[in-house]
Amino acid sequence: MTVSIGTATSRVDGPAKVTGAAKYAGEFNAPGLAYGNIVTSPIAKGRIARIDTSEALAVEGVIDILTHENRRRMAVTKRAYQDDVAPDGSPYRPLYDDKILFSGQPVALVLAEEWEIARFATTLVRVEYDEEDHETDLHANRAKSYEKSKSAKPRGNAEKAYASSDVRHEGEYFIATEHHNPMELFASTVIWEGDGKLTVYDKTQGVQNVQRYLCGVFNMKPDDLRVLSPFVGGAFGSGLRPGHQVTMAVLAARHLERSVRLVLSRQQMFTLGYRPGTIERLTIGAKSGGTLDAITHEAIAMTSQYEEFARNDTGWSGALYKSPNAYYSHKLVKLDLPTPADMRAPGGATGVYALECAMDELAVKLKLDPLELRFRTYSDRDQNDDIPYTSKKLRESYRQGAKAFGWEKRHPEPRSMRDGNELIGWGMATGIWEAMQEKTSARIVLTANGHAEVSCATADIGTGTYTIMTQLAADMLGLSVENVTAKLGDSSLPQSPVEGGSWTAASVAGAIGVAAEAVRKDLLRLAKKMPVSPLAGAKLDGIRLADGKIMNEDGSGAVPIADIMRFGKVDRIEQEGTGESNDDGKHARFAHSAVFAEVKIDEQLGVIRVTRIVDAVAAGRILNPKTARSQILGGVVFGIGMALHEETLIDHNLGRFMNANLAEYHIPVHADVHDIEVIFVEEPDEIINPLGVKGVGEIGVVGTAAAIANAIYHATGKRVRDLPITVDKILG
Ligand code: MOS
Repeated sequence: MTVSIGTATSRVDGPAKVTGAAKYAGEFNAPGLAYGNIVTSPIAKGRIARIDTSEALAVEGVIDILTHENRRRMAVTKRAYQDDVAPDGSPYRPLYDDKILFSGQPVALVLAEEWEIARFATTLVRVEYDEEDHETDLHANRAKSYEKSKSAKPRGNAEKAYASSDVRHEGEYFIATEHHNPMELFASTVIWEGDGKLTVYDKTQGVQNVQRYLCGVFNMKPDDLRVLSPFVGGAFGSGLRPGHQVTMAVLAARHLERSVRLVLSRQQMFTLGYRPGTIERLTIGAKSGGTLDAITHEAIAMTSQYEEFARNDTGWSGALYKSPNAYYSHKLVKLDLPTPADMRAPGGATGVYALECAMDELAVKLKLDPLELRFRTYSDRDQNDDIPYTSKKLRESYRQGAKAFGWEKRHPEPRSMRDGNELIGWGMATGIWEAMQEKTSARIVLTANGHAEVSCATADIGTGTYTIMTQLAADMLGLSVENVTAKLGDSSLPQSPVEGGSWTAASVAGAIGVAAEAVRKDLLRLAKKMPVSPLAGAKLDGIRLADGKIMNEDGSGAVPIADIMRFGKVDRIEQEGTGESNDDGKHARFAHSAVFAEVKIDEQLGVIRVTRIVDAVAAGRILNPKTARSQILGGVVFGIGMALHEETLIDHNLGRFMNANLAEYHIPVHADVHDIEVIFVEEPDEIINPLGVKGVGEIGVVGTAAAIANAIYHATGKRVRDLPITVDKILG
């Protein structure tokens, strides 16, 4: 019996992806497909005064143009537009009324026989606006910030303790607004099935979230509206909430009573959501020996006028470092921009960046090695809730990462290491992310020919969900992975939340575990009824499935599953199971990492290269070291982008994102990515869930930008606190 969990199994969906057999939302076809293209607002705030569509409608091939004036009925309550992961507030409603909430807002949808016609006709739609003054500048509007939440309870009196500390560090950091920019464009193809029934192919991280949302907005029954998303070309959080393209595509299909496709352009995608620009202010007070007295963390982030998007930026310090006094606060500034969205480790990527740079600055003041400071402040309890961890092998992560990197050869003085014209810098940081599990169901259908199908409505956004579902079901049913098929991304499958928060591995593992147990129970019941059954006295917890047989734990009494099913006259066994988190609040659940970075900086030109990264990750049991490593590699590259390249610029005069394209929105390219080593630290965890799985989607990005920023300081002696760290900031 070959066990698949823990082995570097290649993606089961790999061949479909590289051969082009995998179809994405904008690639499904239907007879009589109509094509949509949107007209967007050039103003950030105001009202639509007049829309003249006559010229556009006269173009041959244009079918109709939908606006707030002629659209069909949509729900009127704000509640109907709040999807499963909506923040507090009143969501944007596409083509709902004449109000303009942000630049780039859709104001009309042109429908035509060909996409090119729709695109051309879009240029002929004349819209007049009554413009109002807008505010899009976070820094200029900082005084208007208001407290949204305290991510964790304060402890002691941080202000007082800080004031009397031996060594104090106070710093303000800034993380620029960033956009997800997945390769696949946001798209929806809505198939008109007749009788008002719709099949919706949508780019989304949550088919059932989209289904519930659309049913609410259009007052449809779930049976009449099926949402599918079998493959997703990246999303990084931008596909958690229903995109406005799906709402408009469904509106159009119901209006025309025919199939409709709507694909957003790269530029249009910049209004779907973004990582909010965030100011992070930290104070840390320490004793001269390197233990902490106090830590305070305040975040000021941007949000829209209509929704309050806020994440935990500030609570990480209390979870990571021992400090008797702590205070946190998360503030928001409402701006005339679209609502921000979750983006890979939302709150963690940003908050931990600031925390880890602040710790580095404190280490400099203490004249301590930054790694040594992490050991002196190490916490074996989560102080926010005063509880132990289910597991925390962060010390081992520090040690293994430092060893692989060669940290002990570091000269502490800035500008003390060089390679020819280049200054060398070595920096490190800690990463932390929540290890969550959400209520999720899965179905297993085992057929007498020894094949199983495992299904769940979750998504695979490139993370490897198809593959781990296959591996999990194979191992639990004693089959080889070749004999298991996984199905996902279909709202008609067993219930799943959105794929997000790195919870999917643990969540589907829980569901498949319960479903597989029910299958084993059925098989044992049938086996016991067989004449002279070797398993007549066996108990459910004393048997296992392996090599297509059911047997006692010790391997004795094996009976082929095919024989059992033939005897029982069943050709399929179908079972559904639901898994839930066992979190009783008694343990803190986190994945951790230690990131070490080397930069080389041209002394004259200021060009920065990230030449080496070692990321040592403790994330419980790793189900598949190959796909998990890919997740960490991707996260680290995200971190390089965050540190050096990514920044969405806003023209505050126009109130608009200005670099809404991949030429001017910089992301790391191959030449920016050098040596990345991923280490998975052994971390047995018998508390978190039966398999000890924590998930690895997001931990790879947390800490990476800080390690790079700290390396840049070490190379140059210059502390740049505002991301991204560009040449002008290094030389300026
Ligand atoms: Mo992730 S930002 O929860 O898709």
